[in-house]
This record gives sequence, structure tokens and C-alpha cells, in this order.
Amino acid sequence: MWWKHAVIYEIYPRSFQDSNGDGIGDLNGITQRLDYLKDLGIDAIWITPMYPSPQVDFGYDIADYTAIDTQYGTMADFDRLMKEAKARDIRVIMDLVPNHTSDKHPWFIESSSSRTNPKRDWYIWRDGKGPGQPPNNWQSWFGHSAWKFDPRTGQFYYHHFYTEQPDLNWRNPEVRKAMYNVMRFWLDHGVAGFRLDAVSRLFEDPNLHDDPLLPGTNAYGDQNIEHKYTDNLPEVHEVLKEMRQVVDEYPGNPVLISETDEPNIAELTKLYGGKLDEIQLPMDFQVADVNQLSAARFRELVDQVENNSAGGQPYFFFNNHDQDRTWDRYGEGIHNDAIARLLATLLLTTRATPQLYYGEEIGMVTTPPARREDVRDPIGKLGWPKEKGRDGERTPMQWDTSMNAGFTTSLTPWLPVPPSYIQRNVAVEEKNPDSLLNFYKQLIRLRRTQPALRDGAQITVNCHDADVLSYLRKNVADGESVLIVLNMSNKSKTVAFNLKPQGITGSSAKSLLTYPRAGAGEVPLNAVSLAPFGTLIAAVK
Ligand code: GLC
Repeated sequence: MWWKHAVIYEIYPRSFQDSNGDGIGDLNGITQRLDYLKDLGIDAIWITPMYPSPQVDFGYDIADYTAIDTQYGTMADFDRLMKEAKARDIRVIMDLVPNHTSDKHPWFIESSSSRTNPKRDWYIWRDGKGPGQPPNNWQSWFGHSAWKFDPRTGQFYYHHFYTEQPDLNWRNPEVRKAMYNVMRFWLDHGVAGFRLDAVSRLFEDPNLHDDPLLPGTNAYGDQNIEHKYTDNLPEVHEVLKEMRQVVDEYPGNPVLISETDEPNIAELTKLYGGKLDEIQLPMDFQVADVNQLSAARFRELVDQVENNSAGGQPYFFFNNHDQDRTWDRYGEGIHNDAIARLLATLLLTTRATPQLYYGEEIGMVTTPPARREDVRDPIGKLGWPKEKGRDGERTPMQWDTSMNAGFTTSLTPWLPVPPSYIQRNVAVEEKNPDSLLNFYKQLIRLRRTQPALRDGAQITVNCHDADVLSYLRKNVADGESVLIVLNMSNKSKTVAFNLKPQGITGSSAKSLLTYPRAGAGEVPLNAVSLAPFGTLIAAVK
């Protein structure tokens, strides 16, 4: 299956490459940069929404599911991108936002026009508890009540996210049919699958139970609650099965990737479906959000995945458009270069399908706005200063040392280019053999060419080491296996391995890629030395 072996690259189209000088990235910009992506070695791009949208949530508020926003180009530009990507063996994965539309979507405009409109039941409309009182205590993920009163028809509508993102009613068969036809529309244009946005939030408790209260308040000043009645309802699985059937109507094994922030491995495993008939690649937020370099914690999570994924394929990532970049989230200010390589090694050497986010390969840093008035993401305005929003991880891609890092010829990119672009950009890093970019390229190449990294079993070894995470990718055939050793501490370490129980009888390992860089050579397995946050990838037999 192609998606088991793919390296997937997330593109935030607004920020990747502007081709027409308006300060906003676009589809033709992505097309211009396909050679870069090919050279990096990725197999598929996931493009976050570029459909017509009022851009309240920068595209996640969709006003038309089967068109391209003029800011990003035209359908002809999209088809050209598809063609050029295909010519380079790069697949294109679309972002599907099934939970909610924009309040400017014609469906919602109709739905809100009267209580008797045929589309009324396409959204979640309810009476308030009393005058001026919402139906219950449910909160928006983005702060405050999840209910908005509509004076025209005298009812409230439910929105899990911004008020401008009313939730669709997935209990209505017409809604399902419409959304499945959206999927077919893009599959007919040749896309390789979908990343399903916020898909665990599709259903709400029909009896409108209040959510349980938790202690404390959130960044928006609301009482904390457990989103018990609006997240992860069992009905979601019915829809996932139906969505899977839709992609399975098409040749080429289109993939479903779910954005499902599951609290534990048991919930994550359910997403594959009992007969592996739901999601092929559920995103593993547990791994993404460890947020500390803990060998024990990573080992525990990787082992849980091996023991519980019910035969499904894991999907790991560390960066995306919703959270601080790993450079700052994991870096401690001194060894960030080593830590970035360590995380890249972890991401690209386990059995899980890896996903990158644009710019992580050059070490882009999170650059949040300095002042409230500069914030573009609405939650940053609402939650300032505790919650600065997500602008910091969405700044323009840094291509070269020219004005605005080669992202745009406009004087005013939609978000400012961080000053760090002078050192950290594609052009400079391409020329430096020791750059992070070249390290990513080497890793991706190894993943492709080493049979054990492609198909090997995943076995953690040295399971009690508190500082060093080590695992073997055991070749299922007779050839070389690969040992990966990651020092998650700020001290030099020497580790001894006995891999005989795993069928490895040699006493040394052949180094394939290390950081800090050491020449290719034999490393004795009874004394593997690592620098602080150092890494080793080596072939063993
Ligand atoms: C997902 C997206 C996020 C968006 C939200 C609402 O979590 O990743 O960017 O704001 O859904 O659509």
C-alpha cells in the first residue's frame, strides 16, 4: 500500500509560495516548488483548505466545497498542480472539513432563513433554556459558549469552533450524501485521499446533557469542562465506515487520514475500524505532544502502538499548523540543532508513516506576534496574552536570503517573515552538507533505500535506559536490520547492546547516519558512544 511507505508533507498554502505578488501563497506557488519537494524526497503533499472561504479560520470555514478560492487560484491551476505533481510521483491529499461549514455557505444561509426551510435540519438548531440562555453549557473549542443566538428565527445554532463555523448535522442523511459527493468530486480530479478535519467532533449528544465541569479556567477565562457530549461519540464510526466506502470506490487506494486528538491508544486504535474498514492513518497526537525529550515516554508510546494498533498502520508527526514548532517546543536553547535532528530521526525511522510540516526541514522557529494588534488568528485576539493564536507556526516559508525570504515580492506578506530567515532558508541550507535540510534528505533517502526501514518490524531494545531511546527495525527477510539510538539527555552516553535475542549475532554495527557527524565506519555494539542529544542509525546483522 503506497501510504504505508509514503513520507507526507503538509503545506499551508497561504504561507508556502506566493506566485502573483499579493503577499498570500497560492496554488501556482506550490506548483513552482514541486521540484524542491521532489528533491527533498517526499511522496505526497497534504494541502490545508484552499476552497472559497471568508478566511475567518483561514480556510477551515468553507463557503463552497467544490471550488478554489480566487486568492489561491483557479480550478485550472489546481488541475495543473495535479498534473505536475503526478509527473514527479507526488500525490495530493486534500483537507476535508466535514464538521462545519462557514456561516456564509449557501447551505447555512438557507438553513438560517426560516425554521421551515428544507435545509433547517442540516445544522444543529435548538431553543434556549430560557430567555437569553443557551440550550446548555457546551463550550466552543475556541472559547465561550458553543451556541449562538439567531434573532431572526429565535433559536440557537451549535458551533464547536468559531461562531462563523456552524456545525453540520451528521444525523441528517442528506448532509452525509452531500459531503460524500464532495469527496467524489475531488477524487474525480485525481486526489489521493483526504485529511479529515476535526472528525471526532461530528456528533453531539441529542439529549443535550451538560458537559461535566472541571476545576480552573482556560485561556479564554471560561470554566474548564470536559467535552464529553460533543467529542468522540460512537456514531462517528458509522460515518468513518461510509467515508471509507467512498474512497474505496476509486482505484489507487486513496487514503483517509484523521485529525483525531485521542486521549489514549485504545481510542486511537478504534479509528482503524474492527475490520480495518475505517481510517487507514489516524494521526497520533499522543506521540506528537509528548513535549519533553523523555526516552521512557516515547518508548512507552511506541510500544503501545506496536502492541495495540490491531494491524493498522501508525501515523506520526511532530509539527502542524495548530501548534508551536518543535524547534522551540523541544529545543532547550543550547542543543537545538542536535534536538531537531534527533526528532527528525525518530520521525523518519519508525514503522509509522511520517508527516512533515513545511519549514521543519530547515528548522523554522515559532514566531508569535509581539502585539495583540498584529494577531491574525482570532483565538489569539480572544485569548491574548495567554493564548497568542497560531500565527507563530504559520509564518511564510523561508526560501532564500532575498526580501521576504523569497516567499513573495509584495512588501507586505500576510504574516511577517521571521528575522531568522537570513540563516535558515532553503538556498543557504542546500549548499551546506551539514545543514538540517540535508540531514532530512539523507534520512528520507535512507528510509526509502534500506529494506529494514521500509518494512522492518519495530522492536524497542535496551528497554530500561532512562535517557537513551533505542529500537531495531528488524529486517523481515535475511538482510541487514537497522538499529536506531537516540540520546535524549544533555550528557554524553555510552550504551551497550546485546541484540542476540533479536537474532543479531554480529558484534558491531555499520554506521549509516549520525549526529554529530562521524565517518562511516564500524561501531562496537558493546560501547556505542553518543554526544548530548546525539543520534546513531546503523546497520546490524
Ligand atoms: C482543525 C484544524 C484547525 C481548525 C479547526 C477547525 O483542528 O487543524 O486549524 O481551526 O480544525 O476547523
